[in-house]
Amino acid sequence: MSDQPRERWGSRAGFLLAAIGSAVGLGNIWRFPAEAYRNGGGAFMLPYLIALVTAGLPLLIMEYTIGRRYRGSAPASYLRLGRPAQFIGWWQVAICFVIATYYALILAWALRYVGFSVGQSWGDDAEGFLFGTFLQVGDTPGELGGYVGGVFWPLLAIWVTVLITLALGIRHGIETAAKIFIPLLIVFFVVLVVRALTLDGADLGLDALFTPDWDALTDGDVWVAAYGQIFFSLSVGFGIMITYASYLGRRSDLSGSALVAGFANSSFEILAGIGVFATLGFLAASSGGAVFETEGGLGLAFVAFPTIISEMPWGGFFGVLFFLSLVVAGWTSLISIMQVIVAAVQDRLRVNRVVSVAMVGTLVALVSLLLYPTNGGLYLLDAADRFINRYGIALASLISVIVVAWLLRKLPVLQRDADATSAVKLGRWWKLCLGIITPIVLGLMLIDSFAQEIDENYGDYPSSFLAWAGWGVAGGALLIGIVLSLIPWRRGAEVPPDADDEKRSA
Ligand code: ALA
Repeated sequence: MSDQPRERWGSRAGFLLAAIGSAVGLGNIWRFPAEAYRNGGGAFMLPYLIALVTAGLPLLIMEYTIGRRYRGSAPASYLRLGRPAQFIGWWQVAICFVIATYYALILAWALRYVGFSVGQSWGDDAEGFLFGTFLQVGDTPGELGGYVGGVFWPLLAIWVTVLITLALGIRHGIETAAKIFIPLLIVFFVVLVVRALTLDGADLGLDALFTPDWDALTDGDVWVAAYGQIFFSLSVGFGIMITYASYLGRRSDLSGSALVAGFANSSFEILAGIGVFATLGFLAASSGGAVFETEGGLGLAFVAFPTIISEMPWGGFFGVLFFLSLVVAGWTSLISIMQVIVAAVQDRLRVNRVVSVAMVGTLVALVSLLLYPTNGGLYLLDAADRFINRYGIALASLISVIVVAWLLRKLPVLQRDADATSAVKLGRWWKLCLGIITPIVLGLMLIDSFAQEIDENYGDYPSSFLAWAGWGVAGGALLIGIVLSLIPWRRGAEVPPDADDEKRSA
């Protein structure tokens, strides 16, 4: 049993770097450019910015405030907010469980590609190399098939480093890692983007990214994609920011921190889009082809980029830098996703961090290591990612605003709490966005997206297994959330731990 005082961030800068480390991840480098291109190019920026201002930032501030006020993991904080809200916290824990298992897989691929970049192991067939030689993808979705050693070992390395960092704690593990990796990431990024913009054909790529397709704005799916991208990218709706803010001191600035983190995240994201598309423009100019022919982040990072690396001067060096950026950005996000689960188990079972990491961290790592480095791992990732984003993160965000704003009517209390210590005061817009705009827009979009999902077959896959797998994962996460919330807590768990030592405030 552990009744030690709750851990604290060492400084506000440490907390901010960790929050930015969580936000800036695969979503920025791998997901955003592909989503923007697929959903109207320049026109995507409009729903993206509207989603950021009306939902992303207000939700980020709400999660920071809940975490700091109730000083608990996501389930403990929601329990303290109001008993019926508790299932949202457990649901988010289950969502993080699912995401962590496949998020680590993408990091493992990127880690392996750092090595591949040196000798450009893909030769002149980056696609065949990825799906055949490296991933050894099977023909039948739903069959895991055999193990792929080339994926297993880097995945194991990712998990070992993540679990050790988590075991070291908030200040010595997560904060220290963020202080090292975020500045490093900025340097990598600046070098990559400057190089990309000075390549021949960069303007072709930027035209492709930013030329607006205004018709896209009338498509509900584009708006769902924009909201989904903002939630995933800002790390809201997972319980991460509630958990991270629970280690803040009572006097720390909330709204200002949220604005800094949100602004930094979107800057990274747009910069990544510019860098990626400038590079793709180079490929188009040198091969005479179209700027972007792949469907999503996978083709972009692991097919288009290797092809470009082979063509450009100093390709190996820039390849190492690009894949290292993916690893570094994703690794600090994976830690934050795992911290949601570790903190929930700590609070619920009153065990210390090391015990929690050993129990639940190992469990997540085992599931990831058992399922994903297989011939069928890629299919599983595809299904889990698509469904958990829409019917996990986005739906949990919708339910959380409805419960907090309407069922429990807690927005005024939270606003007072945030305003009491923040330089930027929340005006009426905050309650308006969370209480009215977000529930209506997000609700309508999810209904539309759900109807389309039912209407269409899922993807071009030969069987409906993946749709069932996706629904199973998303529905399973909700079910587990509800079941876990039915198990009673110990007496007194509804009361936040006392703010005994305000001098330690970050
Ligand atoms: N926010 C993290 C990302 O963008 C999860 O990848």
